[in-house]
Amino acid sequence: MLWPPAVDLYSDTQTKPTAAMRRAMAAAEVGDEQQGTDPTVNGLCARVAEMLGHEAGLFLPTGTMCNLVAVATHTSPGDAIVTSVDSHIVRSETGGAAAYSGVITDLLTGDRGRFEPEAVAEALAPGNAYRPWPRLVCLEQTHNFGGGTVWSPAQYRAVADVAHRTGVPVHTDGARLFNATVASGTDPGVWGEPVESIWIDFTKGLGAPMGAVLVGDRDFIEAARVHKHRCGGAMRQAGIAAAGCLHALDNHIERLADDHANAARLAEGISQLGVGTEEVETNMVWIDVAPAGLGAAEFLERLAADGVRMSRVEERVRAVTHLDVSAADVETAITAVGAVLAELP
Ligand SMILES: Cc1ncc(COP(=O)(O)O)c(C=O)c1O
Repeated sequence: MLWPPAVDLYSDTQTKPTAAMRRAMAAAEVGDEQQGTDPTVNGLCARVAEMLGHEAGLFLPTGTMCNLVAVATHTSPGDAIVTSVDSHIVRSETGGAAAYSGVITDLLTGDRGRFEPEAVAEALAPGNAYRPWPRLVCLEQTHNFGGGTVWSPAQYRAVADVAHRTGVPVHTDGARLFNATVASGTDPGVWGEPVESIWIDFTKGLGAPMGAVLVGDRDFIEAARVHKHRCGGAMRQAGIAAAGCLHALDNHIERLADDHANAARLAEGISQLGVGTEEVETNMVWIDVAPAGLGAAEFLERLAADGVRMSRVEERVRAVTHLDVSAADVETAITAVGAVLAELP
C-alpha cells in the first residue's frame, strides 16, 4: 500500500485542520471547561443550541460520547431504545448503550436507514412485566450505513410525532447533519426542533480535529453533564478545540456542496466502469464490486497499491468525499478503479 495515499476516500474523518483553522485554534481564548469558565466552549455551545432551536449545549470530545451520554440521560437500565438495525449506535459503538446504560435495542429495518412511522408505532407498544419499556427513539441524519442518506423533513417529523404521542422522546445522531441541511436546502432547526436531543460532529465533513456538541433543554443538558463527567469527558482548556469548531461553522458548511458534487461524479465515473453504485444522496459512494468478480478486500488492496484508499463494511465498499478531496482527486480515483478492473482476467 502507498502511504500516505494520494487520494484518501476512507472517511470524511481523514481531513487535516487547515492553516486558517490552526491559526484560529492557536488564538483561542480559554478557561476551565470542566468548571464552565471556558468562554470559547461556552460560545460554541450557545451558538449550536441556537442553530438547532434548543436551550443549551454540551461540548464533548466525540460523537460516540454524545450518543453514550444522551442514551444514558434519557433511559434507565432495562429500558428499550428503538433505532435502525444498522445505526451507528448499534453497529459501531462497541455496545456502549448496553454496557453503560443497560438498555436493550429494538431494531427497525427501513429504506436505507429511514423507517416508517408505522414501524415506530408498533415498536412503541407499552412494556409490561415481560416486555421492556421503550423509552427512546434514535434517528441518524444523514444515515451512515444507510448510504449517507437524508431523511425528508416530513418523514422525520412523522416519526417524532408518533414517538411523542406515546410520551417517548427522540434523539438524533447528527454526525453529518450539515450534509443533510446542504443536500436538502433546509435550516438546521428543521432537524433540531422535532426532537428532544440532537448533536453535531465537527470531525466529519466540517474538518475539525475534535469535538461535538449535544443540545437539548436546560434540564436535559444538566443531567447529561453528570454523565459527561462520569465518562471522563469533562475537559480543561478545551477552547482550543472549540475554536476549530467555530471556524468550521463559519467556513466549512456551504462547501459541503462541493463534496456532494464530487461524490456524484465519482459514482457516475465508477458505474460507467461496470461495477454497481448505490444512489448517492450526500458525500458517500457505496460500491458493489461483486459484478467485477472481485471481493471487497481484494479490490481495496489493489486500489491502495495505486494510491487510492477506500474502506469497506463487509462486502460493500465505501468512498467518502471531504475537504481534502478535490475534483481532480476524484478523476484520479476513477482512473485507479478503471486500472484495477482492467487488470482482472
Ligand atoms: C453516524 C455516526 N454517528 C456517530 C459517529 C461517531 O463519531 P465520533 O467518531 O466523533 O465518535 C460516527 C463516526 O463515524 C458516525 O458516522
